[in-house]
Amino acid sequence: MTAVIHHHGSRGTTPLVLLHAFPLDARMWDEVIALLPRQHIIAVDLPGFGESAASADPQGPTLESMADAVATALTEAGVDRAVFAGLSMGGYVAMALAERHREMITGLALLSTKAAADPPAARETRLEVARQAMGTEGAGAVAAMVDKLVGLTTTGTRPRVRAQVSTWLSEAPPHGIAGAQRAMAARPDRHQVLAGLQVPALVVHGAEDALATADDHDRMADQLGVDVMTLNGAGHLCAVEVPAEVAVALADLMGRAGH
Ligand code: MLT
Repeated sequence: MTAVIHHHGSRGTTPLVLLHAFPLDARMWDEVIALLPRQHIIAVDLPGFGESAASADPQGPTLESMADAVATALTEAGVDRAVFAGLSMGGYVAMALAERHREMITGLALLSTKAAADPPAARETRLEVARQAMGTEGAGAVAAMVDKLVGLTTTGTRPRVRAQVSTWLSEAPPHGIAGAQRAMAARPDRHQVLAGLQVPALVVHGAEDALATADDHDRMADQLGVDVMTLNGAGHLCAVEVPAEVAVALADLMGRAGH
């Protein structure tokens, strides 16, 4: 299983590696990347999304195998250390990376995500979405997610952003949807992984997030020893909704990490 990576900016410095949300791909970071022209940034297509093929393993990918695929792609590109920023599913992959490849991480940003495992009902819902995606619905299985991904402010005042997210959802590959839902359903609690990390960190929560709660963010921030940055006027996809605020926060993290 491989993860395709996209380089931006001048190579040679320690990069910022961006890990996208479910069921999107590296394109969700385009606005943030455009606002950080001096950074070396690597945007990842996680397995099953964007230019990355779905896992050939009949069991599908796990968050751990996705993390290993990212680590391998970076190592093959000559990158042995980076600041990682993961939004939602990207955050789950970043936490699996922190568990399995801690030596690669010089800074960590977790946006709109959680370190807790899913309760049983949420797991069941994920498995049902996986079945729907592989059945007759295809990408239609995730179409209604737009209401949860963008906040009320975006729905009311940024119709083009909401329309873009709907387009991305309609393009989501069914195998990617199914594999990622099963992978997320199986993820363990990773608060202890965060407690053991001794790197500069950032935790970002959109005030209108309908999928990850303030408590989810407080608990991660407590383990990392930082305060939560709350972004008003943003929902779950804060990096797409308010990219300027997210870019400033990531640039500050890069500075704190010494890059
Ligand atoms: C995401 O945005 O990546 C998803 O909401 C993650 C999830 O379903 O937990």
